[in-house]
Amino acid sequence: GKVGVLFGGRSAEREVSIMSGNGVVQALQSKGIDAHAFDPAERSLAELAAENFDRVFIALHGRFGEDGTLQGALEQLGIPYTGPGVMASAIAMDKVMSKRVWQSFELPTPRFLVLDTSTVTSEELRQLPDALGLPLMLKAPHEGSTIGISKVTGYADIEAGFALCAKYDEVVLAEEFIAGRELTVPVLGVGRNARALPIVEIRAPDGNYDYQHKYFTNDTQYLCPAPLDDALTLRIQALAVQAFNALGCKGWARVDFMLRDTDNAPFLLEINTSPGMTGHSLVPMSAKQEGSSYEELCVEILASAGL
Ligand code: DAL
Ligand code: MG
Repeated sequence: GKVGVLFGGRSAEREVSIMSGNGVVQALQSKGIDAHAFDPAERSLAELAAENFDRVFIALHGRFGEDGTLQGALEQLGIPYTGPGVMASAIAMDKVMSKRVWQSFELPTPRFLVLDTSTVTSEELRQLPDALGLPLMLKAPHEGSTIGISKVTGYADIEAGFALCAKYDEVVLAEEFIAGRELTVPVLGVGRNARALPIVEIRAPDGNYDYQHKYFTNDTQYLCPAPLDDALTLRIQALAVQAFNALGCKGWARVDFMLRDTDNAPFLLEINTSPGMTGHSLVPMSAKQEGSSYEELCVEILASAGL
């Protein structure tokens, strides 16, 4: 049947999604699948319904694509789609809610505070280091690709970091900084059949794996499988699956971690329910390590639509 690849969209990650979507369409077509690109930023839901897609591959990132709103519309239209459903997508798009759910399952995540941009005072901002130490992270909870994220290294950076996040969100997540190694783990499947792929370690120049380094430079080093001993690898992969299941995810997602230098303790940062599928992206890199090509990975993800 006819497959729609939803890409583009109107979030801050539109540019990334266009790269992901183009890759996915080409991959599916190369496997003989009748795949068509569809950009919900340019066309209406009525037009989507009129396309009569059998299923859709969601290659949208961020709001109105990864956050449950589109998933709800697809449920209404009765079109099976890749990735998590409405609730899991909505929770995963919100870094604060994800952390609250993980805490309730006693899964490790860095300590945090939530600041309301409409009521926060300068005094409260100045006190953040007392609670969380320095450096600390400030994050717009509903963005991706390191948009609206600021690492605060001293008191002088707090106001500017907060202002950056406040451009994107009404609340700001202030989080303890975990000094350590940056890891990410794709998870495929559902429930008891969910399984983790090989761990990717990211070594960016100065530990600064930001938007530019994610998509446009080649000076970030990726190690896959991450050089960790077997026991730690298995523990982190198990934690990735637990984090995935705690939020009620299905299909696929990518779980981001910090591994603390001092004691190798893993901490959950966030889960991405429509991870990047660009030429620089990490899920394809991990799948390749396991022996699946980009094209095979796309077919496997598509097969999970409607799980
Ligand atoms: N938010 C980007 C697309 C990712 O997580 O890969
Ligand atoms: Mg993200």
